Amino acid sequence: MRTGVRPDGRQLAPVMPWHAYGNMTDQDAQALASYIKAMKPMKNKVPPLSGPTEKAPGPYMTVVVPQ
Ligand code: HEM
Repeated sequence: MRTGVRPDGRQLAPVMPWHAYGNMTDQDAQALASYIKAMKPMKNKVPPLSGPTEKAPGPYMTVVVPQ
């Protein structure tokens, strides 16, 4: 959420605004996590991640990052 790095080491695309969320305080992050964890669970099968050369299993968008 604040570093843009997934547990598996992959960096999140900048459309996920982690650059902005990186300034969040520990207290804000804890409050956000508490709020989300207080939500009632729902069933939603999430499609697996796919690489740039793989066919996406569901709707997707392409992000082009200028070099
Ligand atoms: C409280 C607000 C938000 C929370 C808690 C949140 C949390 C997360 C988390 C945990 C991930 C990583 C998921 C994973 O490991 O697969 C993620 C990815 C992502 N988020 Fe957010 N997010 C928030 C807001 C947003 C907003 C405002 C946008 C865009 C308008 C956004 C767009 C995305 C996208 C596109 C990804 C996937 C990036 C990638 O796979 O490279 N998120 N978000």
